[in-house]
Amino acid sequence: MQTDSNFIFVLFGGTGDLSMRKILPALFEAHRAGMLAPTGKILAVARGVETRAAYLEWVEEHVKPHVAKHGAGSVDAEAWSGFLARVEYVHIDLGKPEDFRILRDAVAEHDGIRVFYLATGPSLFVPICRALADVGLNQNARIVLEKPLGYDLESSNAINDAVGEIFQEEQIYRIDHYLGKEPVQNLLALRFGNALFEPLWRREWVESIQITIAEELGVEARGDFYDNTGALRDMVQNHLLQLLSIVTMEPPHSMDSDSVRDEKLRVLRALKPIDPRDISRVAVRGQYHAGVIKGASVPGYATEKGVRPDSRTDTFVALKVEIENWRWAGVPFFLRTGKRLADRVAEIVVNFRPVPHSALGANALRAGANRLVIRLQPNETIRLYCLAKQPGEGMNLASVHLDLAFDQFFREGQMEAYQRLLLDVIHGRLALFVRRDEQEAAWRWVEPILNEWEVSPKPPKPYAAGTWGPAASSAMLAQHGTCWLEEEN
Ligand code: BG6
Repeated sequence: MQTDSNFIFVLFGGTGDLSMRKILPALFEAHRAGMLAPTGKILAVARGVETRAAYLEWVEEHVKPHVAKHGAGSVDAEAWSGFLARVEYVHIDLGKPEDFRILRDAVAEHDGIRVFYLATGPSLFVPICRALADVGLNQNARIVLEKPLGYDLESSNAINDAVGEIFQEEQIYRIDHYLGKEPVQNLLALRFGNALFEPLWRREWVESIQITIAEELGVEARGDFYDNTGALRDMVQNHLLQLLSIVTMEPPHSMDSDSVRDEKLRVLRALKPIDPRDISRVAVRGQYHAGVIKGASVPGYATEKGVRPDSRTDTFVALKVEIENWRWAGVPFFLRTGKRLADRVAEIVVNFRPVPHSALGANALRAGANRLVIRLQPNETIRLYCLAKQPGEGMNLASVHLDLAFDQFFREGQMEAYQRLLLDVIHGRLALFVRRDEQEAAWRWVEPILNEWEVSPKPPKPYAAGTWGPAASSAMLAQHGTCWLEEEN
């Protein structure tokens, strides 16, 4: 791993939730592992705290609990103090242009790559970029934008247009943290590092594919944000469509930034547009009610803090998607995500077609007899289901599986998504960041669903917390003669 790129990492939203839980812990871990240039600095920007000393106290109190523990279950004290020595602070009011001159002077004290990380709400993206440009800080710089980037195609275009006037596309790093996850990287390795699966990875052999990102968590402290967002914007427009494009894209020429992104874009552009009249057949939206998750009672969505009591926001989405190209025409892809579901799991299920004729009885014709289950989290595993003869008299087939658990092979070196992505920004690697055209294609595809749900008189379908979502989600798959993996007997 390179450590030679000197940098100054300016963190807007330095006291925000994301900085606390993800960004600063990831930078600490990179520091601890010796992956940062020794002279690299972190310059936090916030409004709530006055001085560097007060900021360091905040970091001690709020960030340290989120930092990975090592050795005797404690934070490496030497690494921690070395990390704090890298942290500088400027107190600025984002609304005051003169404050950006203070920032400019603070940045000017450091050599190296300039990274501006906007861990703020999207409404601040454009004002911050403009203020940076006014003091000349858009030169030789990289800008990192967190999702959500806009609310729909129009607002996302407005942000991209405005930011694009100030920064070149090669300077803009749009984060989708799923792209930084080790197992998602591994998907690329599985598909393009092995010749084994490629001949089968197409409509002739694949009957259907499911992609699930299920969460047990509810909206936590983000009720206000979430109620104006919903699962389709929060998870489908970005994470699920990115996963879908990685699962289905053509082999890229190389892993350079544009080869992979070009192939993903081709998939996003080939998604069959959704006819508004079909939405109730291909899209299910749900909202959780009170329920029980792993023995604990949890409240319904409408009573969460920050949520309107009559909210119609989707906390669950299931979709049937088609891809209009030669490889995938006619294959249904079922995507699903939700809060307060029965389990936390992200997985991809590839159901292969049964044998064309069975000399061995009806069992061999069963759907799902051959199936590849790629579990992304928790416990990254790949499981390949096959049929085998049951011992004893006669030819009775039973389902067996081959398991590949990655932690048996690789005990060390796992990296959190944010750590990988932040190092990529510092080293100027764009492949794992979303290009503007990908983002637009994804918004364009989800927009008819957003629009229809906006005006539809039908509210989201209720589901009890701790279940797998509304019954309509299972019914949608039943229409295609299939079911979600957990519904298999
Ligand atoms: C974020 C969403 O992008 O992803 C959250 O805004 C969600 O609502 C989170 O909880 C899930 O990420 P992970 O890495 O925990 O699967």
